[in-house]
Formats: sequence, structure tokens, C-alpha cells
Amino acid sequence: MKNVDAAGHVTGKSLYLDDLPVIERTLHAAVIDSPCARGKITALHLDESRAAPGVVALLTCRDIPGENEVGGIVHDEPLFAVDEVDFCGQPIALVVAETEAQARHACSLAKIGIAPETPLLDPREAIQKGELIVPPRTFELGDTQAGFSSSTHIFEGVAETGGQEHLYIETQGAYAVPMESGHIRISSSTQGPTAVQRTAARVLGVPMHLIEVDVTRLGGGFGGKEDQASHWAVMAALAARKLRRPVKLVLHRMDDMRMTGKRHPYTSDFKIGLDENYKITAFEADYYQNAGAAADLSPAVLERTLFHATNSYYIPNFRATAYSCRTNLPPNTAFRGFGGPQGMFVIEAAIAKAAIALGVPAATIQEANLINNGDEFPYGQIAKQANARRAWKTADTVYCAEKIEAEISRYNEAHTTTKKGFARMPVCFGISFTKTPMNQARALVHIYQDGSVGVSTGAVEMGQGVNTKMVAVAAQTLSINPGRIKLETTNTTRVANTSPSAASATADLNGKALEKACIALKNRLAKEFDGIEIRNEEIWLNGKKTSQTWQEMIETAYLNRVSLSESAHYATPLIHYDKTKEKGHPFAYHVYGTALVTVTVDCVRGSYEFDSVKIAHDFGDPLCDQIDRGQIEGGLVQGLGWMTMEEVLYNPEGKLLSNALSTYKIPDIYSAPKTIEITPLEVSGPKPAIKKSKAVGEPPLMYGLGGFFAIQNAIRAFNPDYTPQFTAPMTPERVLLALYEKE
Ligand code: MTE
Ligand code: HPA
Ligand code: MOS
Repeated sequence: MKNVDAAGHVTGKSLYLDDLPVIERTLHAAVIDSPCARGKITALHLDESRAAPGVVALLTCRDIPGENEVGGIVHDEPLFAVDEVDFCGQPIALVVAETEAQARHACSLAKIGIAPETPLLDPREAIQKGELIVPPRTFELGDTQAGFSSSTHIFEGVAETGGQEHLYIETQGAYAVPMESGHIRISSSTQGPTAVQRTAARVLGVPMHLIEVDVTRLGGGFGGKEDQASHWAVMAALAARKLRRPVKLVLHRMDDMRMTGKRHPYTSDFKIGLDENYKITAFEADYYQNAGAAADLSPAVLERTLFHATNSYYIPNFRATAYSCRTNLPPNTAFRGFGGPQGMFVIEAAIAKAAIALGVPAATIQEANLINNGDEFPYGQIAKQANARRAWKTADTVYCAEKIEAEISRYNEAHTTTKKGFARMPVCFGISFTKTPMNQARALVHIYQDGSVGVSTGAVEMGQGVNTKMVAVAAQTLSINPGRIKLETTNTTRVANTSPSAASATADLNGKALEKACIALKNRLAKEFDGIEIRNEEIWLNGKKTSQTWQEMIETAYLNRVSLSESAHYATPLIHYDKTKEKGHPFAYHVYGTALVTVTVDCVRGSYEFDSVKIAHDFGDPLCDQIDRGQIEGGLVQGLGWMTMEEVLYNPEGKLLSNALSTYKIPDIYSAPKTIEITPLEVSGPKPAIKKSKAVGEPPLMYGLGGFFAIQNAIRAFNPDYTPQFTAPMTPERVLLALYEKE
């Protein structure tokens, strides 16, 4: 099936927030934010801003009728700073003016006095000062002490990964329109319509039913709009309520980059023990997460780091502790993989370190430890339909991995100023929100009298193709043409209490609810019409095709006063988790895969090009093959960017240096791999996956980790003295230093 959005996107007709027609008398808002990462506010000179041309109002924390609080998990984040600031870019006030330019100009006139204090930027320093967001968590399996005492080899080290800017093409924004009786309708570029609704209700001090949130689509989210879209929507709503006029607030790119949180940087310690057959006998790790100034989603991200600490491997003796450290960066947040990639990097670094020291390819250790059916994950879930080995073998055989490696050796013998490197990256990612209650969704289906169908779910389209998948689910389940189905906007008055579109679970959760609603409608029609069956737009009775059309049948059903609407709720069965024991069955299933990454490093310049990435991926039975392939390619390239070129930099005062597209580089088509090949595993998908089509949004990002290790291997081919440092991103600067490092 074609992507339902394709035509609109290529003709420019698709609507994003900024394309929505504005109502007469709409006001425009802009944010005054902190120029300082930490300190007491000594003076707020806002009179000049207030008196600037076109300014209608200037709102601060004193103008909040409800709570000045936007924290989702922990209530530790004010919407507007009160008497101190905790990060550079923290909102202090909102200027509302007749035009956007006037609002921005007024912001520039604000004078904020702050008595600066030394900001905390390093998570290890934060923990020494006792600055933790939540108590640490420890996952444990077996007995690591016993594991290490039976190890032949033990290695220890440090692994570090940097932040990552989401760089959704559409920046954060919202448009709030006051309706009658205190009702406010917010159009928001959010992955979490209910999060926006709940937060707006809290800040405005009104019940949730007075806030309606509507989402057409997002120009990308990547996790950055799971919780952090709320702030801007709430500000717009606050102003709209106060001024009784529509208010629009859209961040400029540099404001967005400065004010919003990013992927969490991590620094971690590891210790790995192996026996003489390269079996990992024990693994220990401590993860220090740089959470930023408020909790945001950090505790949930931290949890997923622990869930993915062993990646695709079975490790019988395991102990890991994760610390969420409060610093003076903007609160870091969800980003594709949600802490999983940070955890997987550490185990892969530990394996790479052991492999180098033992003089064996990392693949020897990786393959020896792949998880099998019946093995236990550290959190107590038993691996079922474990495709780790199948993915590994498929990649090996389909792409002739041995041949690739032999060619690379020959190349490296023949070339002195360029070297090639190779790495394999297995991935195992758990599907479900790690917080069990979030694994629920609703759908609402209307069949209109003319046989056309309207579908509403809680799913938000952000480029990942969920709208197309929802249309496919409805069309397949009702057995009618996809052309009859219209997917409505995501709206909290049609589908309430939605979980954010996140955790790669959107199609599964909302698709299952939609499937249930469609089955109920189908059954109702069958009951009304003597057991008819709908087969691909035809109406069959007792095994014979009738002359009736779908449209005629619907018309008759209406005249017979049969309900043609249905709402359904789905909650993922079987999953559970006990946080007090850190054991349970948190995931509906796992997605597996293996990537083979080949890179060429220019040993004069330190630059590099990815020759190819060849992937064996666990699709299940794909509902929309092209969309899933697009997700794999996009996720991979985003992962490679995080590992090799995207460098989020703050100065010692906590000010963002990589604050524009000129100083923050994401992969473009030239830095994407020359070839990307994807082979599906020949296995059927699990039942909790919608139509057995496995979730695909996040797992492929982690194939990008292979890029880091491939570059390291190329560097070692050039400079045998290089002692690998497990510090990502492996930028050209770091590559060049490594190429010429002397022992
Ligand atoms: N793909 C595009 N094009 N744009 C996005 O914003 N977000 C990613 C992934 N793929 C994203 C994307 C993230 S972080 C997640 S969790 C999933 O899509 C969410 O959608 P899904 O649950 O439908 O996979
Ligand atoms: N993944 C993504 N987003 C989330 C999760 C998760 O597991 N939990 C809460 N938000
Ligand atoms: Mo994705 S990080 O779960 O929005």
C-alpha cells in the first residue's frame, strides 16, 4: 500500500501547524528565556518589553491561575522560572503581541539580572554532590562475584556517549483558540495530545474536559515532542485564556535548539569477564545519565538503559546500576531508542575492548553470547521467538560476511593512506512502554451512510507512516478498499486518555484497538444480514457472491437502525513488571536484527565514508513493507549521525555552542552509506504485533552503533599503537587524533 501522505507531501499540500489558517485577531507569542545556566534572579526589568509596539501582554509565573508545574513524572519543573534559573534557555516570561516580529522584538528588550552560580554540567560531579533526580535502580541476575571468579579474562573500562539534537524539521509550536464557556482548543505539534491536555489543565487550573487538543501531523518528533511539546502549548493556552484571543507560538530553530532538551549524554563504567571459550561469565556496569535540570522523562529513559544493558546477549551473571544525575543543562528527554542505545553502547564497548585485548574479532565474542530461546533477560523475562542467532546467521550468509572481511583485509594490505573497517551490530529491542499502564489505546470508527469510513485513533503521524498503517488495518479488517477510509486528526475529544505516540508501539496499540472496533462492526453487519461475509468489497452469503454492494448494504443497515459506529479499547495482554523486585515480563515481544557495517577512513584527513550497511531485520509479516524499509534506513542514518558526527557542545558556563545548523551537523545524503541493503528474516511475527507486523520505529537506530566500531577498526588497521577510547561521537577530529596517537 502506498503511503497515504505521499501525494500531499510532494505537492506541499499536507498541513502542518504553521499551515493552519489563523483566525482573525490572532496574537503571536515569543518566549523570554534565561541567558544563564544557574543562579538567583535578582531583577526582572520587563517594562521596556511591555511598552514595545504591538505588545498586548507579558506573562510570568505570577500570571498562572493553576500550578506553575509541567513535570510529567516528577513535579519538579516550573513552566516559568520563579526566583532562580536552572538552565540556559529556561523560559522566564511570555510576550504576546499583534505580530510575531513585534513579540520577538519585545523579547530582545528584556533585561534580566541574575546572580550567577557555577553550573553543574558533569553527571559524575552531580552525583558526588548528591544531585539525583530519582533514587538509583539496580538490575541483577545470577551472581557477578562468582561469575568473575570463574572468568579467565576480566576487562574494565569507561564508555561515553554524547547528546543528540532531535532536529525535527518542524520546530515546536502550538495554536490555542478560546471557545465558549472556558473551553480552549489547542492545535499542537505533539506526540502526546493527552500530555498537553493534562498539563494545560493543571497550569490553567481547569478540568481536562475544558481543554481539547488536536494534532494533524508532525514534521518529525523523534521523541522530542513526547513531553516537551507541552510547554509551548500550555503557554499559548495560558495567553489565550487570559486575553480571550487566539494565540500562536512557534519557536524559531535556534530558540528550539537552545531551549529544548536532547538525547541524554551518558558516562558509564563497565567490567566484563569471559571464559576460555569467549562466553561472557559476568558483566557489571554503572550508568551515569546526564538528566539536565528537571526530571522530564529521565527516570523512564534510565529504566530502558537497564532493560537493554545486555543488548542481544545472554549474560548469566549481571549487575548494573543506573543513576539519573541532575545538572544545569536543559532537561534531556526521549530520543529514538529512549536510553536503549546508551545501554547497548556500553556492552558493545566492553566486548570490543575484550576482543582487542584477546586478539580475536569482536564477532567471535558477540556470536558466542547471542541470546537463545529459554534464556533469561536480567529483568526476568524469558526469551521466546528469540531471533538473535537467526538474524546473525542471515546477515552472515546472505551478505557473505567472510568475503567482505577478506576483501577488507586485502584492501588494507594494498592501501596506506586509506583503511577500511568492518563491524557487526546485533540489536535486540523490547516492544512496549516500560511503564505497563501506558500500554493501552482506543479507536473510534464511523461508517457513514454512503459507505465511506472515518477512523480516529490516538496515534500521531510524525513521518513514521502510522496513518498508512491505520488505513491498512481498517481496510484489511473490514475487507474494503483503502480509498473508502479517511483518517481523522488525532483529537482528545474523539479519543481520550491516549498514551503518547512513542516506544515504537503506536501502530501495535492503536492498530489493535482499531482492529477490534472494525471486527465489532463487521460482526454486527453479519448478524443483521443473515451471516453475510464481506470479501474484498463483495458481499457473500452462504459461500456465494451476492449482487449487493457494500454501499447498498450500509444504506440498508442505516435504514434498519443499526449502529454504524464503534469505539474499542486495547490493552496489551500478559505484560507486567514489579519494580520492587526489578523482575517481570515488561515487553510484548522483542525485535532483533544484525547489521554489517563497512567504512573507509581517509587516514590523511580523518574523514570517513560508509561504504555499505547490510542488515538482516526482523519485520515479522510487514503491513507496509516500504514504510518499514524507510524506517530502517532513516533510523540507521540517525544512529550513524549520533555515533560519528553529531556533537552537542556546551561551554563551561552551560551555554549551547552547537546552537544552529552551521555548528551542528546531521547526516545528509552525502554522508549516508553508499549502499543500504535490508533482508527480512524468514519468520512470522508474534500475535501482539498488529497483523503480526513487528514494530520498527526505534530498533534500527541502534544499527548505527556499528559505525562507531567499524571506524575504530579502520583506525587500528592504520595505527596499531592506538588504544581505543569508547567516546562517541567519533568525529573526524577524534578520528584524526586517534590515527596519529602514539603509545
Ligand atoms: N520516523 C519519522 N519519520 N519521524 C519521527 O519523528 N520518530 C521515531 C520513529 N520513527 C520518528 C520516526 C520514534 S522516536 C518513535 S518512538 C517511533 O517512530 C514512533 O512511531 P511508531 O510507534 O509508530 O513506530
Ligand atoms: N518508551 C518511549 N517512551 C516512553 C516509554 C518507553 O518505554 N515510557 C514512557 N515513555
Ligand atoms: Mo520515541 S523516543 O519513543 O518518541
